[in-house]
Amino acid sequence: MYSARQPQHARPRSPIHGPALPVGLAVTALGILLSIATVPSGDASAPQAMPEPSVVQEVPPVETDAIPAADPCSDPAVLDAIATADDAAIIAGFGGGERFRAAVVAGNAPCISLDDPAHVWVVVNKARPLNPIDFAPASLTDAPLQITTGSGQARTDVAQAVGELAAAAAADGVGQIGANNGYRSYDLQVRTYATHVRAEGQQSADAASARAGHSEHQTGLALDLVACAPCGGIDAFGGTPQGAWVAEHSWEYGFIVRYEAGATGISGYKPEPWHVRYIGVELAAAYHQGGFHTLEEFFGLPAAPDYPH
Ligand code: DAL
Ligand code: ZN
Repeated sequence: MYSARQPQHARPRSPIHGPALPVGLAVTALGILLSIATVPSGDASAPQAMPEPSVVQEVPPVETDAIPAADPCSDPAVLDAIATADDAAIIAGFGGGERFRAAVVAGNAPCISLDDPAHVWVVVNKARPLNPIDFAPASLTDAPLQITTGSGQARTDVAQAVGELAAAAAADGVGQIGANNGYRSYDLQVRTYATHVRAEGQQSADAASARAGHSEHQTGLALDLVACAPCGGIDAFGGTPQGAWVAEHSWEYGFIVRYEAGATGISGYKPEPWHVRYIGVELAAAYHQGGFHTLEEFFGLPAAPDYPH
């Protein structure tokens, strides 16, 4: 429906390490490529409707070398990047997003903590509170979008990325994207959750709103998007052209839709097509190309449907 182009910054970097495709998909992709390569042009028996070149371009590269280095955390490139707290450089030092993921899942990345809220790979859920519980990001900037509440900030790099996302959506003709909430402090999350509990009771609140210290909004890495203008609410976003575009393209700008339909038993929350979480373009590409639907599965973590106590 919409173009599948990638922005310059989201193009695979060199060296390119392909995705962890399910075997069936990889075989299918190879089959498409082989069938295209082996059908002679002008062959009367060939199908009349040859696949468009864009079909070939949309097939992700097949991974052949995603075995992590023996000890990526002793790699000088990784150590240098850790010293400067440059997440993109750390991931590059691992050999790219998929190798980074694979090393973490294999337990071969002791220098990487999924608990550290200062990094794009932090995983926060009902079983994984922020540490410290009242964490606040070091840098916050107003997101360059139309904001419908008083909470329109995000981590500075995330604010820039969501601005690029919204500009690309508008350039693709799907309309304006704004935001309802970006960063929420611990105290604001206390109030947000309490509002849900008052309105709908604790059980329903827990399916929609994180308890303080458990929200991605507190990391500065998450925003709730709305379609503008005039701006609608978050609940309407999934049914808008902007919502469809975000589901398809947000990974190109480093975001994932964090709470997908069908994943409540793992994520702990009802679907939220409006809630995007920044994980950086390298990890978002690995997430998308690997066909993941939750950050828990991406990093091999247990499901977190409920609070442990
Ligand atoms: N609505 C999401 C789960 C939050 O409160 O962080
Ligand atoms: Zn949200």
